[in-house]
Amino acid sequence: MSEILELAKRLPKAELHMHVEGSLEPEMMLTLSERNQVALPYSDIEEINKAYNFNCLQDFLDLYYQGMSVLQTEQDFFDLTWAYLLRCQQQNVVHTEIFFDPQGHTGRGIPFAVVMGGIQPALRRAESELGISSRLIMCFLRHLDQQSAFDTLEEAQPWLSNIAGVGLDSSEVGHPPSGFRQVFERAAQLGLRRVAHAGEEGPPEYVYEALDLLQVDRIDHGNRSLEDPELVRRLAESEIPLTVCPLSNLRLAVVSDMREHPARVMLESGLNVCINSDDPSYFGGYVNENFEALIHALDLTADEVRRLVANGFRASFLPAGEIERHLGNVAAAQ
Ligand code: ADE
Ligand code: ZN
Repeated sequence: MSEILELAKRLPKAELHMHVEGSLEPEMMLTLSERNQVALPYSDIEEINKAYNFNCLQDFLDLYYQGMSVLQTEQDFFDLTWAYLLRCQQQNVVHTEIFFDPQGHTGRGIPFAVVMGGIQPALRRAESELGISSRLIMCFLRHLDQQSAFDTLEEAQPWLSNIAGVGLDSSEVGHPPSGFRQVFERAAQLGLRRVAHAGEEGPPEYVYEALDLLQVDRIDHGNRSLEDPELVRRLAESEIPLTVCPLSNLRLAVVSDMREHPARVMLESGLNVCINSDDPSYFGGYVNENFEALIHALDLTADEVRRLVANGFRASFLPAGEIERHLGNVAAAQ
C-alpha cells in the first residue's frame, strides 16, 4: 500500500458531510426490513448492490428514501448511528458533523422524538467510550416546500440545544436556495449554524444564493463553483469551506472519471476544501476509501493529504481551542 495512503489512514480526521441515513449498509437494511416487517424490493445483498447503479443524484435519492423506510424505532436509529461511529473509530475519524433528514422520517409517520431518541444516545456513547466528538446538523429536504421546513424547525425546538445547525439537501436542480431564505433566517435567529448543498448538480448561481441569501458557513460539494472564477475568488478570500465527496461525485456522475476530480485544482485555487464520504454505504466507502480513491487517481502528495485533513478541522463547528488541539495532533502525526 502506498506510503501516502498509510499516512491518510493514520492521521486523525474530521468528517463534515455524512448523511446518517446514507450509512445504512445493505446488511443492516435487510436485518431491519425483517425486524420491522417493512417490505423491500430486494431479497439479498447482491440485489441491493446491483440496484446501486446511479446515473445522477435523483437515481440515488429514490433508493436512499426507499432504504430509510426500514428505520422505524429508536433502536434502529441507535444501531445505524452507532455502526457509523464504529467505522469512525476504525478510520481515525475523531470528530464528525452528522446530517440527518427529519422530514424523511416524520413524513412517513416516525416521530421526531424517535429519530433523536436513537441518534443522541449513540453520539453520547461515542464521546464517552470512543473519544469521538460530534455535532448534529438537521437538513431540510429542498424538494419539499419552505413551510414544511418551518414545521420541521418548530418540531425540533425541544432538541435545539443538541442540534448545531441546519442544512439543505435532496434534489438540487429546480430547488434553488432562494426558496429557503426565511427559514434559514429563522434558524440564524435561533443561534443555529447554516450549511447547504450547492453546486453539486446545480449551477454556480445556487452557490451565490447559498452565500448571499442563506448566509451559510460552509458549502456542501460546491464543485460547480469552479465554472465561475469570480466565485472561486470570493470563496477563497472568505475562506468558506467546501465539503467535497469524491466517491459520491464519481457515482453520481458529477465527475466522469476520478482523474478529473477537482480536489487538487480546488486546493491550488486557495479553496478551503476537505474530504468526506456523503453516503458511504451507497457510494463505496467511508472517509479513508475517499482518500484512497483520490490518492490513487490524482497521485496526491503527503502535503496535499495533510492540508485536506487539516482543512476538515478548520472548517468544523468545534471551538477554536479544540480546532488548534486537533491541528497540533495532525501536524505531530508522522
Ligand atoms: N442527500 C443525501 N445525499 C445527498 C447528496 N449527495 N446530495 C443531495 N442530497 C443528498
Ligand atoms: Zn450530501
